[in-house]
Amino acid sequence: MASAVERVLIPAEDLSARVAELGRRIRDDYAGRTPMLVGVLKGAVIFLADLMRAIEAPCECDFIAVSSYGASTRSSGIVRLTKDLSVSIEGRDVLIVEDIVDTGLTLSYLLRNLETRQPRSLRVCALLDKASRRQVSVRLDYVGFTIPDEFVVGYGLDYAGLYRNLRHVAVLEGVAS
Ligand code: IMP
Repeated sequence: MASAVERVLIPAEDLSARVAELGRRIRDDYAGRTPMLVGVLKGAVIFLADLMRAIEAPCECDFIAVSSYGASTRSSGIVRLTKDLSVSIEGRDVLIVEDIVDTGLTLSYLLRNLETRQPRSLRVCALLDKASRRQVSVRLDYVGFTIPDEFVVGYGLDYAGLYRNLRHVAVLEGVAS
């Protein structure tokens, strides 16, 4: 999978150490409760699978998918739900699990959408935060890494469907973020 155009940004060992830390924090914060982890397809799949095992306490998961219209590497701000949750989240402690928060438009849409379903609590866990690109402010309760404004792939994140299976996070040179 190695390619001349990618440069390692976060090695696999750093990812697993950070995910373990996040898992411990989430386990402690939700002690006595059973959080519902809502993974945003497809990018969050790898992160969610590791995070869930790192929590080491009862938790459930479900998935939601959104697509944003427009160019492939930029969020247009018009977000559409392409796959809904399979269960009700009313009264549940919901933790949205995202791969990366860039402009914040996708997450802001998801928060508004899920809030209407009356969860008991609604929080966000994002692996990567491209904070400098934010267009709408969104509260991130748990963040893995804050990264610079570069287009990244790996550990679930893709470019044109590829690179999701890299064990590390890499910068893809030559792609505008
Ligand atoms: P936002 O709505 O601009 O915050 O965009 C969030 C979504 O854009 C993420 O869930 C990713 O699917 C995609 N995205 C943003 N930045 C990157 C990146 O650097 N690599 C891969 N996907 C990205």
